[in-house]
Amino acid sequence: VSRPRRADLVLVGFGHVGRRFASLLGESRPALLAQYGLDCRIVGIATRRMGARFDTRGVEIAHDGPAAAHPAAGSAALQVITQLARSSDADLKIVVETTVLDIAAGQPAIDHVRAGFAAGCHVITANKGPVAFAYSSLNREAESAGVRFLFEGAVMDGVPIFNLVRDTLPLIEISGFRGVVNSTTNHMLTAMEAGETFGAALGRMQAEGIAEADASLDIDGWDAAAKTAALANVLLEAGISPPAVHRIGITESDAARARQARANGQRLKLVASAARDRSGKVSASAKPMALPATDLLAGLEGKANALILQTDLLGEIAICQLEGSLTQTAYALLSDLVTIAKQPARRGAPAR
Ligand SMILES: NC(=O)c1ccc[n+]([C@@H]2O[C@H](COP(=O)([O-])OP(=O)(O)OC[C@H]3O[C@@H](n4cnc5c(N)ncnc54)[C@H](OP(=O)(O)O)[C@@H]3O)[C@@H](O)[C@H]2O)c1
Repeated sequence: VSRPRRADLVLVGFGHVGRRFASLLGESRPALLAQYGLDCRIVGIATRRMGARFDTRGVEIAHDGPAAAHPAAGSAALQVITQLARSSDADLKIVVETTVLDIAAGQPAIDHVRAGFAAGCHVITANKGPVAFAYSSLNREAESAGVRFLFEGAVMDGVPIFNLVRDTLPLIEISGFRGVVNSTTNHMLTAMEAGETFGAALGRMQAEGIAEADASLDIDGWDAAAKTAALANVLLEAGISPPAVHRIGITESDAARARQARANGQRLKLVASAARDRSGKVSASAKPMALPATDLLAGLEGKANALILQTDLLGEIAICQLEGSLTQTAYALLSDLVTIAKQPARRGAPAR
């Protein structure tokens, strides 16, 4: 029986997703050990306000944050990543990036990912920023560092999109996609069709914790545009960033449009799409569209999301998520961890 492989993790960002991931990792410990021979420990945590905490014996995860945290002078994130690289002797060293999305440039998450690679660590993230703004360069950097860059949680929480394509669609060529990938706007459009005003629907989404307190990322279409760029970069090698996505958000006037569409047997949906034309150029958009009732995307109620992939050998295939949750996003990170664990250890290579 071979000895379990040890994985040391540092969490950069410890908000909703980071905390749920930490608890799910605890719940999944026996299964990770039994099924993948993986023994995981969280050895570091960094957040903007709490600073850095690192202990090779494992940090104690208090409910309200890292125990005895102390604000760091420079970047707490870079501090724990450096400590992971220098002080851990684990077989696998993994940075788990769950800081907030910055829609202007994907920072500082991109710097955190780069620092992870430079330190010889694998990086997994639920943040759309790095893959939406810098996928191809980060992917190259990960390859040359001999580490993995995985981001299943960036789009549609834990529903496998990137894993599906990478692991189960060999030789398939994807020429485009269409989807509904933002829950807040889909929920609002559904509510407005039924007569609720824009303001009331938005207020309810905020009260239920589905929309952010600052919901502009959702309603202005930026979240959908970032997901569109991420999907286009990975599935179509588009090499774009969110500002290149033709973006139209939803406004008060869409309440009447949604009701009118419904009356005409259609549904108004914020559709994220991208396609490669014959010259190889990828165009991408995220905008409200009235869809015929027969369209699979038209049937998505409330918080449901779906993505339809246009492929050469399988025609159109779709994957659907009826409702997202924090557990699903945390599961995406867990599945990325398992992807790394399944990689055979490199013989003669330094432990990574
Ligand atoms: N929530 C979801 O359901 C969901 C679903 C899919 C994907 N995501 C993505 O997952 C990520 C995290 O979401 P969340 O809901 O967990 O956000 P959150 O609750 O706001 O937590 C964000 C965390 O990032 C930390 N942070 C921000 N800037 C930092 C920096 N420069 N260095 C170190 N830490 C920093 C924050 O620290 P402080 O608290 O100290 O400021 C906080 O711990 C986002 O990118 C989001 O888009 C979220």
